[in-house]
Amino acid sequence: MAIIFDSKNRIFHLQGKNTSYIIQIIRDGYLAHLYWGAKIKHYNGSNPIAFIDRGFSPNPDPLDRTFSLDTIPCEYPAYGNGDFRIPAYQLQLENGSTVTDLRYKSHKIYSGKPTLEGLPCTYTLDINDAETLEITLEDTLIGLRATLIYTVFNNFNVISRSVRFYNNGNEDLKLLRALSASVDFRDNEFEIITLYGSHTNEKNIARRPIVSGIQMVDSCRGASSPQQAPFLALVRKNTTEDTGEVYSFNLVYSGNFTAQTQLDPYGNTRVNIGINPFDFSWLLEPNESFQTPEVIMTYSSNGLGEMSKTYHDLYTTRLCRGKFKNKVRPILINNWEATYFDFNAEKIKKIIKAGKELGMELFVLDDGWFGKRNNDLSSLGDWIVDKVKLPNGLEELVDYTASLGMEFGLWFEPEMISENSDLFRSNPDWCLHVPNRKPTVGRNQLVLDLSRKEVCDYLIDSLSSILSNNKITYVKWDMNRHMTDIGSSALPSERQRETTHRYMLGLYYILETLTSKFPNILFESCSSGGGRFDAGMLYYMPQTWTSDNTDAICRLKIQYGTSLVYPPITMGSHVSTSPNHQVGRITPLETRGHVAMSGNFGYELDLTSLSYEEKELIKEQISVYKEIRNIIQFGTFHRVLSPFDLNEAAWNFVSKTQEEFVAFYFKILSEPGTSIRIIKFKGLNADFLYKNLETSEIFAGDELMNVGITIPRVKKDFISKMWRFKVIKP
Ligand code: DGJ
Repeated sequence: MAIIFDSKNRIFHLQGKNTSYIIQIIRDGYLAHLYWGAKIKHYNGSNPIAFIDRGFSPNPDPLDRTFSLDTIPCEYPAYGNGDFRIPAYQLQLENGSTVTDLRYKSHKIYSGKPTLEGLPCTYTLDINDAETLEITLEDTLIGLRATLIYTVFNNFNVISRSVRFYNNGNEDLKLLRALSASVDFRDNEFEIITLYGSHTNEKNIARRPIVSGIQMVDSCRGASSPQQAPFLALVRKNTTEDTGEVYSFNLVYSGNFTAQTQLDPYGNTRVNIGINPFDFSWLLEPNESFQTPEVIMTYSSNGLGEMSKTYHDLYTTRLCRGKFKNKVRPILINNWEATYFDFNAEKIKKIIKAGKELGMELFVLDDGWFGKRNNDLSSLGDWIVDKVKLPNGLEELVDYTASLGMEFGLWFEPEMISENSDLFRSNPDWCLHVPNRKPTVGRNQLVLDLSRKEVCDYLIDSLSSILSNNKITYVKWDMNRHMTDIGSSALPSERQRETTHRYMLGLYYILETLTSKFPNILFESCSSGGGRFDAGMLYYMPQTWTSDNTDAICRLKIQYGTSLVYPPITMGSHVSTSPNHQVGRITPLETRGHVAMSGNFGYELDLTSLSYEEKELIKEQISVYKEIRNIIQFGTFHRVLSPFDLNEAAWNFVSKTQEEFVAFYFKILSEPGTSIRIIKFKGLNADFLYKNLETSEIFAGDELMNVGITIPRVKKDFISKMWRFKVIKP
């Protein structure tokens, strides 16, 4: 790893583990992008930028018609002085103009990586883990400075980027657009991969050709959203799971975003990503600064599998934090699908007791324990225990759980407020709203205005009092609607369009405060499932409820798609009842177990009404998961067969030392006349001998990876198979 500045040619060469990224200062201080891809030792200018006189492409220098910002690869493109493609940033001056002109001013290179004030970001464990380049650009006419921040890591094929704007002038500047990164590829041989979906149908994989013009995914919902993820990858037409190039971009942010590609007529592709400029602006008064979120850019020459491994390794070791980062996660039982709002202390105690008997380790009391919450019409904001349902308070349940040697977790939806709540009656202007209009509800609730410090502090205090007064070791942090009527009664008119980003900063402030104050609590984020499953949230909460859809067959795609970016340890995954509550499907308990065991394992069904056989199988599942969870949660995950392409799915997990592995295969519908199916495991040590723990057969790693083993034929729908192999020591 190194960042080299060639002062003669004014070239920055950033070298990561196996990747190089090259930038050049050209002409009068314009910053141009030269290369990103496989690592090269020395760059000697083999493919310099071509300067060509092209029609309709304007020239800053009237004497040089070959130089236009419209035709060169720009590193952080501006609006207004020649480049007609999508700009990375735009500002409005006091005179109304939106034209700026940033030129190279200075740079610095240093070991380590800076934190980003108020925002989640990846970090280093040691100053020598990474190297950072900061290039400061300046528009001397108005005193605007933009510092482009790049970090390369020793052990990852990653470049992180963000931008810090600073107003060094005397007049107010209004940021209208402030993206985190833009990359101009002198290449158009790409397809685009994004992740899309909806509530109960998150993280589907979309792959489409890149075409002339702009293609975009975004969110203007006030959350990263289940509709589109803040992720975009460029791949080659022949890129597969294991071969071919991938350039990917993932934003470490949980709010509105945009991710775009633009193919120009000359075969160049621009990609940019950052906060969605739609309905966004930020007033920068003199001496004020604005920091964009970070984007994690990865390069892989070995397909999507290598891209995912890079994200998984980086996010588990350099994004997730706290005590639970390296700890195996408890097997939980959650009461939501067992009771919904209809429970009392006796019912809950029966579920806890049954959970204990089956080997579960953590009980989670979901929605409905506070205020007068018997349905979703009321009480959000009133975080006071409902003494009708729980006359002896949470203490009775917490003590009972502890007496059985289990841990206790609690559900909150802190960011919301019900109109029918004491909090709303005493603070009606604490919700997002605009003057004189009645705000639109979603799930009968409004969104608290977290751009206001006093609202954030209220939440910190009310949650702290519950968390300090009860032995709670897990919190499920839910968020069940998107933002409408976006406006804050605490902000002046010229700052109203800052509300959604200020909300995110407020949320991050709350999460930073609570997770630091309660380091022994495991926080799991949730947004009606995977509605805000993003890297920003993982910085504070190391696991996320992947989807409200607990149907094992739907989960194959949801978990497969999620794994493109996020590791299995971060994916909450529960066994629920059959017929399934979301889609009505009937599936074997074994298959439900295998799907849920492929992530952060738990149960979410009424344990008090199980048959003897079901209980025996669940006991078995739990004891197996306890044996394999180290591999599932801390091993390397490999996708083998895609449910997006086939009537089946398969994946395997390999321990860090490659001495053990676990594989799962799922058949969706039974079909007549099918071929004999073979599974070829991935990521094994070719020279190791592995023993099948079920059959005691012994095979070498190279055989298991290249020849594979036959999948037993079963004439049934929705079946699954698990294999466990362990190395045989000579
Ligand atoms: C949505 C979550 O995803 C569910 O698991 C459950 O907690 C409900 N909210 C409770 O309202």
